[in-house]
Amino acid sequence: MATRKKIGLIGAGNIGGELARLAANAELGDVVLYDIPAKENFAKGKALDLEQNGAVLGYDSGIKGSASWADLEGADVLIITAGIPRKPGQSRDDLVATNLPIIRDVANNAKKYCPQAFAIVISNPLDAMVYEYKRVLGCSREQVVGMAGVLDSARFSLFLAREANVSVKDVRPTVLGGHGDDMVPVLSMTTINGIPVRELVAKEKLAAIVERTRKGGGEIVNLMGTSAYYAPASSAIAMAEAYLLDQKRLLPCAAYLDGEYGYKDLFMGVPVVIGGKGMERIVEIPLTDEEKAMLAKSAKSVQAVVDVVKKS
Ligand code: NAI
Repeated sequence: MATRKKIGLIGAGNIGGELARLAANAELGDVVLYDIPAKENFAKGKALDLEQNGAVLGYDSGIKGSASWADLEGADVLIITAGIPRKPGQSRDDLVATNLPIIRDVANNAKKYCPQAFAIVISNPLDAMVYEYKRVLGCSREQVVGMAGVLDSARFSLFLAREANVSVKDVRPTVLGGHGDDMVPVLSMTTINGIPVRELVAKEKLAAIVERTRKGGGEIVNLMGTSAYYAPASSAIAMAEAYLLDQKRLLPCAAYLDGEYGYKDLFMGVPVVIGGKGMERIVEIPLTDEEKAMLAKSAKSVQAVVDVVKKS
């Protein structure tokens, strides 16, 4: 007998709520919107509002607010946004002291209640939080990825599309590296439907777009006083859908590197294939010397935060 998939959303805040809305609307499965006991009623209220939303829009997905990990038992997918977001003036790395014990708590509970779930970590500092989640869970690298590259690529695509005056649908971006201000938008691999982007956008405009992409998260934090949530949620749902529907999508994700691109024991953004087996493979692409140097700089920043995590 067919049963619905179970999607566990850990953190019922801004991204968590939008994740629930998107997952339910796409009928990916039934949703459990989990938050800490102090936020239990908030999670329950959001879940009820979203179920009522289904009565208007016509989706049947169940959405349950909860502060009990027992409700996550048997989850097929976990999307983790537990933790605090940035405030203006903060870097993602400034969040490590607060979010590290939170990700450890989440990973310990996931290990107990749904150790088989495919996990998509969103909490910042992303590359270090996903590293710690995998370490605590002790799972295979196929089972856990971090969401950053899909979002960073979306930002890159939008800025390129607006500059070139073409549809966002036709931009094929590539962004590698850590989810920080030294991420690597790869111009040599970015095209507008096959046409190298350098043919369509002037050099100095491209440089400005690369810079704006790198600081894309901060631009929104400065405007809103907190982090973005619509595009981050859509990005993670694309990844969850690729897994649940075995789509074998090639998406940029933070994946555990074991020698790929010359890095070991580190999560960093690279192109991966996501399908029914999870993170099915990492795709290595040729980079120019300049891009390799930028990736090395980004890896160094990620490693510095992971070193802090390892010592804590
Ligand atoms: P938010 O503050 O709206 O929601 C976070 C929720 O996590 C809160 O409701 C909080 O009660 C909950 N929480 C705290 N401790 C918990 C625990 N132990 N177990 C379960 N839930 C817990 O924050 P928002 O805007 O949803 O952002 C969430 C995280 O995502 C932040 O760390 C933010 O920096 C990060 N982020 C990452 C992006 C990426 O590209 N990877 C993009 C945007 C935000």
